[in-house]
Amino acid sequence: MREIIEKELAVLEAVTAVSNEEVEQLRIKYLGKKGLFNDLFAQFKQVPNEDKKEMGALLNKFKSSVEQKIVLLKENLDNTQHASTDKEDLTKPSNLQSLGSRHPLSIVRNEIINIFSRIGYVVAEGPEIEDDWHVFSALNFPPEHPARDMQDTFFVEERSDNNHAVLRTHTSSVQVRTMEKQQPPIRIIAPGRVFRNEAISARAHCIFHQIEGLYIDKNVSFADLKQSLLYFAKEMFGEQTEIRLRPSYFPFTEPSAEMDVSCNLCGGKGCNICKGTGWLEIMGCGMIDPNVLDASGIDSKVYSGFAFGMGIERIAMLKYDVKDLRLYFENDLRFLRQFSSAF
Ligand code: PHE
Repeated sequence: MREIIEKELAVLEAVTAVSNEEVEQLRIKYLGKKGLFNDLFAQFKQVPNEDKKEMGALLNKFKSSVEQKIVLLKENLDNTQHASTDKEDLTKPSNLQSLGSRHPLSIVRNEIINIFSRIGYVVAEGPEIEDDWHVFSALNFPPEHPARDMQDTFFVEERSDNNHAVLRTHTSSVQVRTMEKQQPPIRIIAPGRVFRNEAISARAHCIFHQIEGLYIDKNVSFADLKQSLLYFAKEMFGEQTEIRLRPSYFPFTEPSAEMDVSCNLCGGKGCNICKGTGWLEIMGCGMIDPNVLDASGIDSKVYSGFAFGMGIERIAMLKYDVKDLRLYFENDLRFLRQFSSAF
């Protein structure tokens, strides 16, 4: 019995394993029900009493050696498995990480900012909760003008001096704030959220985004306005894009115009996006009314300027052929993921 144990201990010493099955085989061979240890234990009963102490100790040593060896083999196996999978992974592509993407409105806003920053415009910002002065009065809105009506404007707080707190209905308020604190030359682009009390539909929302542009200096003319907007249209919609200006009305600009760009879907022939006209309306613009300059502390006899304003949702709808405005605000991943490659 002694010889068997000593021989097995030596064998055990040299055992290696390359798989979990091999370790399991080893365990069964030594410690299983019909394994060597049970055999030896049966033999142990025959051992003369005077040898029992010594042989018992040897048997215990054998059992714990086997157990230790099994633990050791398992550890080694774990390590080598990690090592070999690591090695294989070096040549494999890693698991695809799903990255977030920019919201289409952010993409378009950034693109518009980039286009104007290349010709010297800087970004200006203002508060969303405004007052009547910055949204209407300073912009030459007569007191009875329908845009002040409850139907369009969200009033936040009524004030005794009539300078009520309102949610801004357009980013033109940033025009006023800039003119109040800065003398020309002024060249700003003001992106932001605006609010109008409108029923939500595919074409209208009570919250949307605008970008306002403002340029004031000496000798600024309507030709400068036209050239700047033509540059913008070509950068935004492609070199072949043409613009047309139609007379319009805004209280704060004189003369005022609506700008259309040639429909780049049908190339001007007429389709259902441009409703057969070949043109798409994208913004309002005009020369700043001298009353507005004077109201903000800029001498209208020395300076002139132009302003323009557009809805970001509208530009993004045209650019990406989005048919329903509500999609921008629902955060449906199936919609948002379509923009993941655009930056
Ligand atoms: N603020 C106008 C609007 O919300 C747009 C505009 C801006 C028109 C600047 C002219 C000049 O409709």
